[in-house]
Amino acid sequence: MAIREKNDIASVVAEYVTLKKSGKTLSGLCPFHHEKTPSFTVSPDKQLFYCFGCGAGGDVFTFVMRMENLTFPQAARWLAERAQIPWVEEEESPDMARRRQERDAIFRLHKLAADFYNQILLHSPQAQAARDYLQERGLDQEAVSRFNLGYALPVWDGLVRLLKKKEIPMALAERAGLVLAGTNGYFDRFRDRIMFPILDPQGRVAAFGGRVLGDGHPKYLNSPDTPVFSKGRYLYGLFQAKEAIRAKKEAVIVEGYTDVIQAHLNGFPEVVASLGTALTMEQIKTLRRYVQQVVIAYDADAAGQAAMVRGLDLVRRAGIGVRVATLPTGDDPDSLLRRGEVERFRACIEQGEDLFLFKLNHALKSHNLNTPEGKARAVAAAIPLLAEVESRVAREEYLRLLSHRLQVTAETLYQEWRSYQRRSRKNNQTLDNSRQTGNTTVLPSPMSFPAGRDNPPDPVERLERELLRGALQEIQNFRRIIEALFMEDLENPLYREILGRLNQLYTPDREWPPEATELPDSCRTEYLSLLAENEAKQYPVDIEGCCLRLRQMQIIREIKQVQSELAAATELKGEALTERLNRLNDLNKVLRRDFPTFSGLT
Ligand code: UTP
Ligand code: MN
Repeated sequence: MAIREKNDIASVVAEYVTLKKSGKTLSGLCPFHHEKTPSFTVSPDKQLFYCFGCGAGGDVFTFVMRMENLTFPQAARWLAERAQIPWVEEEESPDMARRRQERDAIFRLHKLAADFYNQILLHSPQAQAARDYLQERGLDQEAVSRFNLGYALPVWDGLVRLLKKKEIPMALAERAGLVLAGTNGYFDRFRDRIMFPILDPQGRVAAFGGRVLGDGHPKYLNSPDTPVFSKGRYLYGLFQAKEAIRAKKEAVIVEGYTDVIQAHLNGFPEVVASLGTALTMEQIKTLRRYVQQVVIAYDADAAGQAAMVRGLDLVRRAGIGVRVATLPTGDDPDSLLRRGEVERFRACIEQGEDLFLFKLNHALKSHNLNTPEGKARAVAAAIPLLAEVESRVAREEYLRLLSHRLQVTAETLYQEWRSYQRRSRKNNQTLDNSRQTGNTTVLPSPMSFPAGRDNPPDPVERLERELLRGALQEIQNFRRIIEALFMEDLENPLYREILGRLNQLYTPDREWPPEATELPDSCRTEYLSLLAENEAKQYPVDIEGCCLRLRQMQIIREIKQVQSELAAATELKGEALTERLNRLNDLNKVLRRDFPTFSGLT
């Protein structure tokens, strides 16, 4: 491909990273995670990059996709422009053209509907109740115009009639989620609701949220998934917040529509909303284009917090710094600001604690620290969190803090930490072995894995990835793996797909590993990253060790599954019970036979 040839990876990377030559490769500080010593490498021979720190790797396209947060076609275009290759829009298949035209039509239709609802809110005599409601909530003219708020009348054919007048095909409006088909023809989806248009980052109306006036169910009715919208795809308010968050280098994420609007009205233009769900990867990727730091300001209810912690790990792994603001109990940003507590909200945001402390507090709060058992469990929950702390000094500081909070001596905690470290080292032995054999590059220990995007956090997935990397090193390795493992048993669907595809491509005498172009689009990025990692790490993967360890983990997983089935179903009787007990027995036998030294299952 001309674009690849005209964009030497070393010169593209050099625009972002200061590279130094070391042997056949170039190295520098990784642009994808924070580091002080260079672990990022580029191989001009193979035209691949790889970071030993965070595991990011791939070719020049992958690099630009990540650096500029672009899709593949966007990156291709970016690189074409860079190399001054005239860009011809990719030949659109008739099917692609039809889909693109439909998307454009849906965006236009949404815009029409948004303006229609807005005009009704502003001028219709029947919208008086809606205007009163908004006024009561402190959403004034300015809010209405900045967020293009509207009102859908309490009738079945408000929008339908407009569409008929404009001769817009009803089927299109149905695809857009604006009308529904009933036995007596089409009718409006949104009736008697305040309308909040959801914009994409370019400002096009992609969907609506509609709120009942007062109490009613559902409180918010949202557009369904359509060719231009899916839940978790956009951030509400991003279009309006874009410039502010770019300037501040920080975004504040709240839960709801009214939280965003109220914040913008009160001088917090950097606020966006995830719309009631935990943050999705797509939202995080979008945010990464603008900021490196986010503050989360969700309601303080407990269920929300648990979901939040999971979402936040995702954010952190994407390389974005996260702080968590704790709002007064029972408040959301809207209610706080409506009471006039602007400075209190500002203080909450400014004093947001870093993710680690938030998680630590969360772990401590979930246990009763007044009983010895509770304390022990709290320690057990808190210690693994320390593994995320890269700096030894910071870790020591946290241990002291923990010791103070729990009234346990720092020495005891330190011992707990050491034994936790030893345990997880042992668990990662196969990975470690391959790191240590005859390679002089100093690699990070598994405990200090920085917030990389490629290192699967889960030990099973990490092992699976290592195995896959081994499969690409030698064709014999691939054969050994296929013989030793059931592919279907791999947990990560992407790795399953790659291994499955390799199996289709495999013939004993072919070139190995296959070219990335021989793999489907869906797994090419991951495949390139594996190739890049092999290019950078020349030592062989311990195939037997990985296979054994994976099998062991599979058996243990099954044992735990059966155990929990037994524990959950107290009414389990007769055959079902015997069946499970027998299975448990068999599994334990296999475990003892094949892994005589294993003693970790509790
Ligand atoms: P909340 O229930 O916290 O509502 O849901 P809110 O934002 O405080 O709404 P107001 O202030 O009562 O008007 C948070 C967000 O979850 C989504 C909406 O995006 C909402 O803003 N949500 C909630 C729905 O999509 N549907 C619902 O029925 C409820
Ligand atoms: Mn609210």
